[in-house]
Amino acid sequence: MSLPIFNFTKIESTNDFARSLITEHKIFKGIVIADEQTKGRGRYGNKWNSPKGNLYFTVFFPILRSNLKKIQFLVQLQIRNILKNYNIKNVSLKWPNDLYINNKKVCGILQESIVLGKLYLIIGIGINVKSSPKIKKYPTTYLNKETKKKIILTELVDKLKKAFVSKIIDKKYSFKKIVKDWNKYAFNRNKFINFKLNNKIYKGIFRGINNNGALILEHNNQKDYFTHGSLV
Ligand code: BTN
Repeated sequence: MSLPIFNFTKIESTNDFARSLITEHKIFKGIVIADEQTKGRGRYGNKWNSPKGNLYFTVFFPILRSNLKKIQFLVQLQIRNILKNYNIKNVSLKWPNDLYINNKKVCGILQESIVLGKLYLIIGIGINVKSSPKIKKYPTTYLNKETKKKIILTELVDKLKKAFVSKIIDKKYSFKKIVKDWNKYAFNRNKFINFKLNNKIYKGIFRGINNNGALILEHNNQKDYFTHGSLV
């Protein structure tokens, strides 16, 4: 599959631009990359700090609703694989969309969708390469701090692009296998966690995800399943 690439030195948000390509220009698949963003967005309306030197990458394409859930876990696994090939160890996958190195956030993923006749998925990926912001709620890190290997942004972009084309978009995948792999690398699995949903905190032991991708929280020998929310 060939994906048109839209490259910017500066843009408000690569996700917003992808959305406008779909809704206004009827371009239904592609990749948007920027050196820096002036209105980078994270989940829950948070700001995503986007100075030059880090990676801002959005890929968008049509998708079947039945594949929506699987993709988020598959994307995390593929990014983990890319980081592993830079000799970076201890990369874990945090529910539902982050990647951590040694318990510090290095990558955030913002998945959005649009229905315009068909369903389109917009996956925005931010990877801290040269620097990471100081955030009150969680520790952060960046790739250049975690590996001695030189990371060239254009190469990292290329690896991501290849992963989407050859391993993710329009590929057949077994959810069972994705779940098994994801659980292997899950952040804080089998540990006591606080889980937040709609401003309510649930406490319990995080048992990974089930075969439908729902988070399993064990409390008093009883299991609760969550499809939304975040680990806090
Ligand atoms: C999060 O952890 O809250 C998700 C962060 C996602 C940031 C990326 S950077 C590229 C794309 N454009 C945006 O405005 N956001 C995503």
